[in-house]
Amino acid sequence: MYLILSALTICSYAIAPHVLTQGPFTETKETFQFTQLLDHSDPANTQTWQQRYHVYSQYFNPTKGGVILYICGEWNCQGVGDNSLSFQLAKDLGAIVIALEHRFYGQSQPFGADSWSLENLSYLNVHQALDDLAYFILQMKRLKLHNIDSTLPWYAIGGSYPGALSAWFRYKYPHLTVGNLASSGVINTILDYWQFDDQIRKSTSKSGEQCPLYLQLLNGYVDKKLKNFNTKQAFKESYNCEKMTDNEFRWFWADTIVQMIQSGQRTRFCQTLESLPSIEAMAEYIKEIALDQGDSYKQYGAYYLRDETVDQNSVIRQWYFQCCSELAYLQTPPQNKESLRSYELTLDWWRVWCNDAYSQGEVIWPDVRATEAYFGGLNLNVDHLIMTNGGEDPWQTASLTKATKANSKVITYLIDCDDCAHCVDLGAPSAKEPAVLTSTRQAIKNTFKQWHDQFWSKTMVE
Ligand SMILES: *[C@@H]1O[C@H](CO)[C@@H](O)[C@H](O)[C@H]1NC(C)=O
Repeated sequence: MYLILSALTICSYAIAPHVLTQGPFTETKETFQFTQLLDHSDPANTQTWQQRYHVYSQYFNPTKGGVILYICGEWNCQGVGDNSLSFQLAKDLGAIVIALEHRFYGQSQPFGADSWSLENLSYLNVHQALDDLAYFILQMKRLKLHNIDSTLPWYAIGGSYPGALSAWFRYKYPHLTVGNLASSGVINTILDYWQFDDQIRKSTSKSGEQCPLYLQLLNGYVDKKLKNFNTKQAFKESYNCEKMTDNEFRWFWADTIVQMIQSGQRTRFCQTLESLPSIEAMAEYIKEIALDQGDSYKQYGAYYLRDETVDQNSVIRQWYFQCCSELAYLQTPPQNKESLRSYELTLDWWRVWCNDAYSQGEVIWPDVRATEAYFGGLNLNVDHLIMTNGGEDPWQTASLTKATKANSKVITYLIDCDDCAHCVDLGAPSAKEPAVLTSTRQAIKNTFKQWHDQFWSKTMVE
């Protein structure tokens, strides 16, 4: 068998397309509920809900340490992975680590069992999420919970969408943290995101010109299967996808391949493809990967996304609501005819899909220009922010890989090495890791230490 997903036993992946939550999670933690405001944009609204958070105090120095806020995103937040960068920083700084669950995910459902109705999902957006973080910090300082003195410095860390939150937080609330890390922070909310597949082509071509060529041929293979009216239903059924439209299936197929590259398995994936005798055999291999992911196919089907039943382990209805209503990152095929993704998957198709999943009359579509106008898109310019990206990560084009004059104050690192992909720096170090990954983590630690020392030396003078 060709199964190469054994790496999944060390990293558990949530099922949203670009999410990884890196475990295992065995560090000693305590779990609490925070009384959070529902609507930060309406001071007259005093409604509250319970937001879950995990606290790790084993490295905490309450007099000269700090607080690391780990921003959880579009997943059921289990906390922070063992030996991950957040803990290494906590040891260096004497910090307490707090992982805060994102509203509408996991156990943090503002309306309980009614949370996922369209009406109630309107409270799920970037500004409410950033304001949750701000209010959380302010209350922790005010109430001195967990022995956190109001004078202690706060730092925030996030990866992927929470990476964007971490970067945007420096813009909206620069006074509340001393410095943040945004790993694979997707601050550029691209509507027509063709650059994503273009990066898949570039990343896979590191394995030689054959690999991206095979992906293209495999795309053609699927298109052909779906065009044969007699066999297409059986074909979809063999993937459990009989309830899905042809285009949803095409997206599912492309994303199965994407997952391999994004999670840093490009070398083995391309090697396996090349070892197989035919396109049919390669298609079988991809089918195995797809079937091995259980019911993750459901995230591509509007039929499934319409289900409003709250389930703390399911993230797809909320995540694609965020994409369709605000964040976009809608992946389309590049125009260069070398796509691994079907040319049917246009922005027009996305519009139909979003409305199929979420519309009850009113049209749903993300206003990416509003987000860009507010935060500046790739021109975000804030100080005390590190942005990191993996060199093979398809998402890097939605992030800042190299600071320009427009964002002279942002510190950027492109971690360019084999199989270095999404949020690569956040995980636990391994003995065999590339030197540039080790040195980047060290540079991040040095910068945090510098911020920390500066903070405390200023405090001493006053
Ligand atoms: C939204 O949640 C509230 C509070 O639980 C509930 O009363 C209301 O019916 C919900 N709205 C919908 C449309 O489900």
